[in-house]
Amino acid sequence: MALVPRVFLPAEQIQNRVREMGRQISLDYPQGPIYLVAILKGAFMFLADLSRNITTPSRIEFMGISSYGRGKTSSGEVKVTKDLDVSIEGQHVLVVEDIVDSGVTLTYLINVLEQRKPKSLRIATLLDKPERRQRDVEVAYVGFQIPDEFVVGYGLDFDEDHRHLRDICVLVEEGLGLGTRG
Ligand code: IMP
Ligand code: MG
Repeated sequence: MALVPRVFLPAEQIQNRVREMGRQISLDYPQGPIYLVAILKGAFMFLADLSRNITTPSRIEFMGISSYGRGKTSSGEVKVTKDLDVSIEGQHVLVVEDIVDSGVTLTYLINVLEQRKPKSLRIATLLDKPERRQRDVEVAYVGFQIPDEFVVGYGLDFDEDHRHLRDICVLVEEGLGLGTRG
């Protein structure tokens, strides 16, 4: 049976929440630049929308981290696959992540970034699955807390598929899906 995406969080709701998050971040950081460090690939769409809703001057940087192999389960192993091109010493850094699940990826990343002596270091995630947490990680900005469901779309993938969808979706067996407007 093929798995098809069914809408879980519609695009409008995501856009409204991301606008609010941008407003809050702009208030919390009156002074720029904020280094928005997005984690590839899942955070690319959230970064694009969040950054456009932050009025404080910002800079866009990317890091690649792999913790998951193929599929839905973590390999448990974390490594930096693409590092920053710039120094973040003395800078305000906001890590932009798609989803915090076990917390293993971010715990590792925060350790790596702390050693580079940023002026401040916080995390903004679109989604948070608190039920799945294995590592205690402090997340300053959360878009939505969601139950333990595997979601795709708005940057998130299942084996590299579905990242382009405007909505965040769950995967259901074909015939049960309501379709999307991706
Ligand atoms: P963590 O280290 O377990 O917190 O894993 C975080 C990473 O796992 C995220 O950046 C995603 O790439 C991936 N991930 C976790 N849950 C999901 C999901 O429901 N859909 C798609 N990717 C997920
Ligand atoms: Mg992934």
